[in-house]
Amino acid sequence: PTTRYFEWVVEEVNGSPDGVERVMLVVNRQIPGPLIEVNSGDELVVNVFNKMTNGTSIHWHGQLQNGTNFMDGTNGITQCPIPPGMNFTYRFTINPNQYGTYWWHAHASTQYTDGIYGPIVIHSPNEPIYNTYDGDVLVILSGLLAQYLSSAGIDGSNYGGFNPGAEPPPDSGLINGKMIGSSLDLQPNLRYRIRLINMGTLTQFVFSIDNHVLSVVEADGISLQPVDVHRVPIHVAQRYSVILTTNQTAGSYNVRAEMQETCYKLSNPNLNTMVLGTLTYGATPSTPNTVDWSDAIPLDCMDLNSTMIVPLVQLEPPSSTQTVQVSMSFQQTVQSGGTQVLAFMNNTSWESDTTNPTLFQFYKGGAQTNFDDTTQLMVVNDEITTIDLVLLNYDDSSHPFHLHGHVFWILGEGDGTYQPGISPVTTSNNPPRRDTLTVPGFGWILIRFVADNPGVWAFHCHIGWHMAAGLLMQFATLPSQVQQFQIPSYMEEQCTVQSGGQINNR
Ligand code: C2O
Repeated sequence: PTTRYFEWVVEEVNGSPDGVERVMLVVNRQIPGPLIEVNSGDELVVNVFNKMTNGTSIHWHGQLQNGTNFMDGTNGITQCPIPPGMNFTYRFTINPNQYGTYWWHAHASTQYTDGIYGPIVIHSPNEPIYNTYDGDVLVILSGLLAQYLSSAGIDGSNYGGFNPGAEPPPDSGLINGKMIGSSLDLQPNLRYRIRLINMGTLTQFVFSIDNHVLSVVEADGISLQPVDVHRVPIHVAQRYSVILTTNQTAGSYNVRAEMQETCYKLSNPNLNTMVLGTLTYGATPSTPNTVDWSDAIPLDCMDLNSTMIVPLVQLEPPSSTQTVQVSMSFQQTVQSGGTQVLAFMNNTSWESDTTNPTLFQFYKGGAQTNFDDTTQLMVVNDEITTIDLVLLNYDDSSHPFHLHGHVFWILGEGDGTYQPGISPVTTSNNPPRRDTLTVPGFGWILIRFVADNPGVWAFHCHIGWHMAAGLLMQFATLPSQVQQFQIPSYMEEQCTVQSGGQINNR
């Protein structure tokens, strides 16, 4: 293992990835931001200097952070915002058993929407699909709003500035940071691993390449038994690797990333939902005239069916020791400033504590609740438990939910209300494992995870606006071990510094 050092500057710059100039929030003046490429077991050191006018924090999506929950980068949960003009050094070890495709992004308010995101690739000879391909290619999908929303104050704090269900939809979609002209220039007759990452904030994409079958071999870091598809639906924060074989006639082909407006039920009349790029091999790049696959686009707003996601390495879940049932909904709420639509998990709309993050409350001792209805916090007692988490979606749209610090098994999903013993759950002893999954509209999911990782972990909808509106709960695991963390003292000091106008409680 090696230590990998990165120096990052986060700043506000003018940019125009889709042709409309606006303020972007970026790391090292790149969109997407810098690639972090490491080996399993490496130590990662990222020194982040915040040159913006608002506080920020950087989260390492999918990293297990064993023993380093305080490096998870979750504003109001594991740290205070990095104040403007100050820096923060993230330092943690990549779990030696972790490999595959991940990403990083700002985890403060809705900032990542404005550009603070980038890929993480972890190599390991232990990855079951290691060395089964000739080339490695990143395809990053994201949405872009024409207006710089954070500066307009349109973040979680005044989410209610929108009418119910009127979260701002994207104005354009990007492939590798470009609305048009993104190109993959490859060699003929090779097998390429395309790492697809949805770094958008609202929209599910459906990805395809004309005339080419894609073989799905990884979901969220877990190697899969290969399954051939024409189209890959990918929701916010999810990752897939697909093998592309460049064995068709030499030339150029359309690469398609289609935004699924029907899934979030918000339309933007000016939005061209089909984002096009070009794949070329064996020829000089030209404008492709290839046509889309003719079979129906899967429009059910769901992940690849779990029967298609079969891990290559079987890992049978232990039996559960505790079941937690949580509902999610949106409700009109009377606030001091008027009526807002907020998001609720059970009866609570999460609000981050930017001066006393949950982790610090446990670190200092004292926080002792069980299912606390003001912070939407569930404390897992001081022994390792296996939790069955049932999430009931009382909303008509599907939502991509992510659990920090864990990989969970997907044991079931369906429409309507989950009823133990009646609703179908998997009987497979090799169920899918991942870190982000889509909860169907008016439906439910059942996931299982082993709560063995000390710290405070967010479980939330990854749609930026929804998290900002409170669609988040926390698990505090093994609290007495949290008290033994060696948290750098400057982390507490940063909590006493003003973090700027736009970073507020949500
Ligand atoms: Cu990708 Cu809580 O984050």
